[in-house]
Amino acid sequence: MEPLDGETPLQAIARQAAAGQQSFPESSMTSLERFPYYTAFPFAWYPIVPGDRLGRGEVRPVRLLARDLVLWRDDDGDAHVMDAYCPHLGANLGIGGRVENGNLVCPYHWWEWAADGTNARIPYSERTNRKAQLRTYPTIERNGLVMFWFHPDPDQAPLWEIPELDEYLTDEWAPLEPAEWTVRCPWQELAENGPDYVHLRTVHGAASVPELESLDFDGYFNHMRSTVDFATPRGPTRGRIDTDGYGPGFSVARFSGIVDTVFFNVTVPIDWETTWSMKLYRVRGPASVGEALVRDLKKQMAEDNVVFDNKIHVPSPALADADGPILPFRRWAAQFYVDGDPVAAGRTQG
Ligand code: FES
Ligand SMILES: [Fe+2]
Repeated sequence: MEPLDGETPLQAIARQAAAGQQSFPESSMTSLERFPYYTAFPFAWYPIVPGDRLGRGEVRPVRLLARDLVLWRDDDGDAHVMDAYCPHLGANLGIGGRVENGNLVCPYHWWEWAADGTNARIPYSERTNRKAQLRTYPTIERNGLVMFWFHPDPDQAPLWEIPELDEYLTDEWAPLEPAEWTVRCPWQELAENGPDYVHLRTVHGAASVPELESLDFDGYFNHMRSTVDFATPRGPTRGRIDTDGYGPGFSVARFSGIVDTVFFNVTVPIDWETTWSMKLYRVRGPASVGEALVRDLKKQMAEDNVVFDNKIHVPSPALADADGPILPFRRWAAQFYVDGDPVAAGRTQG
């Protein structure tokens, strides 16, 4: 397959869109029509904020998974994620709430909520309300990210652990500015782009595509190992791209060969229509080479987004022999959707 001279069609559209020169009518199909499999939010560990962006005593509202959540950090430094609405009379705890005595204080009548979601104090009453309970989400801080566990069943304990990737958190690896997007499709469409090697040529204009060494679907995780010829001014240089997925919310991609670059890849449903995508990049070695690679990766994401924002899901895709392992990926992805989320009920009965 011969590369085009100059940019690909989607590169041209992404460049024009970035310059504000072109816009497209949005599809009038709903996300359920475009993505019929998306009837539940997948259970997962979801990053919610880079840890260094949430100070002690800070409280803020966050909209994810079609829910209003409150994110806060107590005075001991522990982060918490809970449903946002106060069980007393419904104020949003994220808007005007404050941290006191390790509790989250509602801005409306100052009831205090403990980190386990129980009522810790009512400032104008001798007794607490023992029946009141806020839904809380198991919350950890790992690899520089505050992450919470979501499952439709609130009593389901986390089904896996996110590994500590300390090797990338040393001074050797310089963090670059993270990139964030709101994409009009589910996480699964973004993730399916990973095993789709052909698009690297046809969308991003790559001279060569990676050669898959192995792809493991290992329970809730997946691991992809590949070699690639990176284009450099001195000609192609042999390198590697290796990725590890830890459920739907968090994956890691490592590039080695010309410069060691790693990115943490975050995808979290905002609601049924949109997904929050964030990439946190770290580079080891010559900064200018790493920055050039990251600039290119960000440009590629903008090009992919043109497709994501407008595509549909083809349940029985017409595939060629040389297409990547799309169907094994979909079988892996399917395990994360389970019923029982009250926020999803009614979605399919429209
Ligand atoms: S609504 Fe929260 S204390 Fe009254
Ligand atoms: Fe891509």
